[in-house]
Amino acid sequence: MIDRAQAELLIAERLPEKRREHSRRVAAEAAELARRFGAAPEAAAIAGLLHDYCRDLSDAETLAAAARYGLAVGPIAARRPKHILHGPVAAAELSAAGLDADIAAAIARHTTGGPGMTILEKCLYVADFCEPGRAFPGLDEVRALARASLDAAVAAAVRISLLDLIGRGRGVVPEALALYNETHAGN
Ligand SMILES: [Fe+2]
Ligand SMILES: [Fe+2]
Repeated sequence: MIDRAQAELLIAERLPEKRREHSRRVAAEAAELARRFGAAPEAAAIAGLLHDYCRDLSDAETLAAAARYGLAVGPIAARRPKHILHGPVAAAELSAAGLDADIAAAIARHTTGGPGMTILEKCLYVADFCEPGRAFPGLDEVRALARASLDAAVAAAVRISLLDLIGRGRGVVPEALALYNETHAGN
């Protein structure tokens, strides 16, 4: 088990100050969402602190870590390894260091999302999307939705993410598309 104090020490060793500040804002936001929607706030805070633990690895280091931990690397992830795989790699590394499985799962899916997410996973996904340091079109909609419905916030967040990726001509991983289809069922 890794507690909040240990999580702070881990990111102090690894992450530059700017990313630590982002991580703390995500931790606070995720804990608040967890309180509102029925997940464990402490677990959400730890997930927030650690979610970008491997964000500053290079593409080569990320792929090497993925291979070391036996993680699947799909064709889209192979094109943008550090961006798409920093969550799964962090989850694997921190699991080996004793992180709880539910927190590791949230970290693994924080970038792409995926179908069948737990409340804790949704809290981290939405918190990373709309922490107060972020600013981009559509964000206020997600923030407003997150006051009343976690699922509505996830649906809007994945839709905005996919529109942005497609607008840039980038690939979409199947997990993100599955989350989009799940959250827009009936449409
Ligand atoms: Fe991230
Ligand atoms: Fe992040």
